[in-house]
Amino acid sequence: MINNNQIVKIRLNRSELAVPGSRVDFFEKAAQSKADIIFLDLEDSVSLGQKLSARANVIEAVNDIDWKGKTLSIRVNSHDTEFMEEDIKQIMKNTSSRLDLLMFPKVNSDKEVFKFDKLVSNYENKFKRKKKLGFEIIIETTLGLININQIALASKRNEALHFGSADFAASLGAKTIDIGGISQNYGVLNSSEKKRSFVLNDMWHYALFKIVLTAHAYGLRAIDCPFGNFSDELGFNYAARSTYTMGFDGKMLIHPSQIPLSNKIFSPTEKEVCNAKEILAQMKLAEKKGKGAIAFNGKLLDIVSIKQAKNIVDIDNLIKNNRESE
Ligand code: GLV
Ligand code: MG
Repeated sequence: MINNNQIVKIRLNRSELAVPGSRVDFFEKAAQSKADIIFLDLEDSVSLGQKLSARANVIEAVNDIDWKGKTLSIRVNSHDTEFMEEDIKQIMKNTSSRLDLLMFPKVNSDKEVFKFDKLVSNYENKFKRKKKLGFEIIIETTLGLININQIALASKRNEALHFGSADFAASLGAKTIDIGGISQNYGVLNSSEKKRSFVLNDMWHYALFKIVLTAHAYGLRAIDCPFGNFSDELGFNYAARSTYTMGFDGKMLIHPSQIPLSNKIFSPTEKEVCNAKEILAQMKLAEKKGKGAIAFNGKLLDIVSIKQAKNIVDIDNLIKNNRESE
């Protein structure tokens, strides 16, 4: 049973770098990077004519490259393509147990996830694979967002729900072509007659909120969309800080220059960690005195503060362990 009050799968996922399966020249650099997760892509960064060679490249790369302590994922083609089943078969047959995850794009319903699970489970048995692969699911179609609850519950392999804003915009018919950026046209005009000012809104707020809500309700990681304009560092910072604050665990990245930024933003600051540890100590004292709530630094703390503080300390421990193992 899924415990819906707890992050079940603990994995660092602050930065998840996309590496096109057709760009063999990018693989070594990705392996040397500080990304928490690398996903080798067979889907939308690979042209139709290169689908088969990309598949072979990616399989070879999983087996032959030293990926250090990174988590390794492959994004297969979507359910509605002629490639998906063979992607899964060839990956399951030919990759070593270095592979940790499979990423599924454009997922519309739980039925698709049932099918992925069945295929993967059969091949895991058939090819006597030692490691059970986890799933990353991209929510990036209108149907996917509508069915997100069933999708999240469809497989015990599910570890993370990702937001794919570019495909989502296309599926929705949204009038924007910026990948992961905000649209200058989406907002409201202040109705005050004297000084009218336009206030921008975040057109992805509903989707983002729904994804983080569902992911964390079922103990999955919530991963934010890529930010396409890789020369806009400030824009990236604001976008990432906003979803970090909302509860997201990390971001998909389309350029290595975004890795240090993402790692920094999705890590709690030293001050946050110190504060969290102090909160845990204070709440322990309060518990001994039989109190459920106390005042700390002029603010109210209660039992839920323990959960919030514990999340911060847990992620900080993961980051420290990760540094030691590098
Ligand atoms: C990612 O896959 C996206 O569509 O934004
Ligand atoms: Mg997409």
